[in-house]
Amino acid sequence: MKHIAKRSLSMLLALVMLCSLCVNALAADEVKVNSALSATELEKSASAQTVRVTVAPASAVTVSNYEGKLEVPKGWTITKIENDDPNATLTASDYNLTNGQMGWTSADTEDKSVSKFVTYTVEIPANTAAGKYELKVTGVNAWKNIAQDAVLTKGQHDSTLTLTVKEKTTATGYTAELSTWYTQREVGKTLTSAGIDYEIVQLGGGPVRDCIGCNQCSKNGCVFTDDGVNDFIAKARQADGFVFGTPVYYAHPSGRILSVLDRVFYAGKDAFAHKPGAAVASARRAGTTASVDVLDKYFTIAQMPVVSSTYWNMVHGNTPEEVRQDREGLQTMRTLGRNMAFLMKAIQLGRAQYGLPQPEPPQVTSFHH
Ligand SMILES: Cc1cc2nc3c(=O)[nH]c(=O)nc-3n(C[C@H](O)[C@H](O)[C@H](O)COP(=O)(O)O)c2cc1C
Repeated sequence: MKHIAKRSLSMLLALVMLCSLCVNALAADEVKVNSALSATELEKSASAQTVRVTVAPASAVTVSNYEGKLEVPKGWTITKIENDDPNATLTASDYNLTNGQMGWTSADTEDKSVSKFVTYTVEIPANTAAGKYELKVTGVNAWKNIAQDAVLTKGQHDSTLTLTVKEKTTATGYTAELSTWYTQREVGKTLTSAGIDYEIVQLGGGPVRDCIGCNQCSKNGCVFTDDGVNDFIAKARQADGFVFGTPVYYAHPSGRILSVLDRVFYAGKDAFAHKPGAAVASARRAGTTASVDVLDKYFTIAQMPVVSSTYWNMVHGNTPEEVRQDREGLQTMRTLGRNMAFLMKAIQLGRAQYGLPQPEPPQVTSFHH
């Protein structure tokens, strides 16, 4: 039964977030604010869960007082607001659990070195539906010498943090944690530690059409709009790198991923140019290199650099549990992730410095007179 409803197609999109390369446009007496979530994704749960939001200057700043606010999704609750000054006297006017307002004034009104403004603890209700949720940090403002010499200007440091609640994965059934998904997540975890955000797109167990060569692809994509192909093209335009993953079926990629990628590349090839791509395969035993070779073909007709690792991009295992034991395969995935992160950042820098190569007008010689 497992394979009847399985989602055999996974595609990982990677988005460059090169914060370290951002130009610092702040005035000399201003500081940059870093807002961070303790987890960017959680599994759906039958019990309440918590997440922590930290608001801090990029490096320690000397101030006498500050304020700010956190807005959480409807129904979510702020249960605790803390700062890292053990001597702070917290009053209801400084901290408001209901509306997320926080504030701090040094006890003796002297400027103090502050390395973190505040940590919020946010409770997420039981059974929160899968989806993306936004938490907004606004109005962060800080002063020296009580209300003089603003070191942060209100409104300039707003940030939106996104928390993804995922469907719970189980060992069996429709939402099973598949070997291919597990493999791609290993690449994804490495991308995350390199500062690159990622999303794994699975098309689910619903029907997927083949390309019928109607040549009616439009600016908006494929004429068939009843599966996820056009949505994927739209996502691809926003992404800066790709990992296509497939289980091996009869020593080749699953027919499903080929049906999808034929249509994705025929209708939206331009979304991929000059973005690195890697193909990964998961198999019980045989057919991995042939499968990877087939998927690589999409990259090499779309001006995409192909990313490699210390071994061909494959894991062995019939189940996620077996894949977990393939230490070499998983190491190959982590190395792949690091190489992909490096290439994405290098392309980002190269594009800014040299621009992308310009194509010649197309010469199509399908047949000769
Ligand atoms: C129709 C079908 C054909 C398969 N053919 C092969 C094969 O040729 N070689 C192989 O090693 N494994 C084969 N397998 C096993 C899968 O490749 C393996 O279980 C894979 O890890 C499943 O990944 P998934 O959990 O992401 O679907 C096949 C499985 C199915 C359902």
